[in-house]
Amino acid sequence: MSILVTGGAGFIGSHTCVELLNAGYDVVVVDNFANSCPEVLNRIKKITGRDLKFYEADLCDPDSLDIVFKENTIGAVIHFAGLKAVGESVLNPLKYYSQNLGMTINLCRKMAEYKVGKIVSSSSATVYGAPEKCPVTEDVPVGHANCPYGETKIIIEKILADVLLSKGLESVIVLRYFNPIGAHESGMLGEAPNGVPENLLPYLTQVAVGKRQFLSVFGNDYPTHDGTGVRDYIHVVDLAKAHIKAVERAYKADGIEYYNLGTGIGYSVLDIVKAYEKATGKKIPYKIMDRRPGDVAESYADPSRAEKNLGWKAQFDLERMCRDADRWQTMNPDGYASVN
Ligand code: NAD
Ligand code: WQD
Repeated sequence: MSILVTGGAGFIGSHTCVELLNAGYDVVVVDNFANSCPEVLNRIKKITGRDLKFYEADLCDPDSLDIVFKENTIGAVIHFAGLKAVGESVLNPLKYYSQNLGMTINLCRKMAEYKVGKIVSSSSATVYGAPEKCPVTEDVPVGHANCPYGETKIIIEKILADVLLSKGLESVIVLRYFNPIGAHESGMLGEAPNGVPENLLPYLTQVAVGKRQFLSVFGNDYPTHDGTGVRDYIHVVDLAKAHIKAVERAYKADGIEYYNLGTGIGYSVLDIVKAYEKATGKKIPYKIMDRRPGDVAESYADPSRAEKNLGWKAQFDLERMCRDADRWQTMNPDGYASVN
């Protein structure tokens, strides 16, 4: 029995493949490289010394997906694949609704057809919109996300719950990630955004290696300890490890369960700048700019349900997240196009 990992060549998926292979699972990856590249798979193999089965396929195409299910015995699915750029989703909402929802619907259909009942699905803190309270527990009502991308995450959660009710699935584990950062400690896997990074850490690491002149800090007049936005940053390897626990849980449980995955600690943008400078000894020039539309002042998790039910707790601190992110960026200034 293999674990099918959709989007396994992506940032979180690749780190999860490493943890799955290290834990002894057989892994089948489906990815169309919409936001990744084949070199990632070589690096997963180099790190783990193990092979995985790969299909270059678009999940929006049911026929391609059928071949994957036909040729493999799948025990459970971890569903990472999706488009995730907030700004692009505002400019092109139909692309996001059609692809993120379309691929999830195709996947659920194939899972029902081949009687694969267990799924762990990537969701996001974005489903809470401007959260009612912090730390955010899982029973905080799911609100209005700030963009079409976020709305697709809300709808995907709903689709999975409804398919489960109809007995098309047996067990659904919804993982709501807060802000994943960091990289594999080998420096061989990390976040490689196309073009100008939208998120804080990839932008900051590019400033650190001199690819960009300065960091724009989006607003310093929020009601937070220093006026800049507060988030719950979590090391991507901690996040990857949570997926192993979630798969184990999916095998045992039935029904749908929701988990917030964060450290439970909120850091501001300026906290991150200071921590990065301290961890790496590099100076990060920054300028205070206007607020970014759609941003909330603060969002950080109460991750205690994951600790209680999954036996998972984040291990890596902010210094480690910064060091690993910096190592990745330094070793791969041009992402996976860099020659090592
Ligand atoms: P990513 O873009 O690095 O990985 C997604 C992968 O899915 C990519 O390799 C991409 O090529 C693939 N993909 C996209 N469309 C596809 C299609 N039609 N068919 C096959 N493969 C396809 O993103 P990530 O950061 O690893 O995120 C993984 C999941 O976690 C996503 O669902 C994302 O929405 C969610 N998430 C990410 C974050 C974050 O900040 N990174 C936060 C919360 C939730
Ligand atoms: C973090 C903080 C910014 C960039 C996004 C998505 C969310 C989820 C995670 C997928 C904020 C500030 C940022 C910069 C800055 N992704 N910032 N200068 O907005 O919390 O969440 O990624 O599900 O859906 O919305 O993350 O890294 O963009 O921003 O000052 O150049 O850094 O204002 O306070 P965010 P982020």
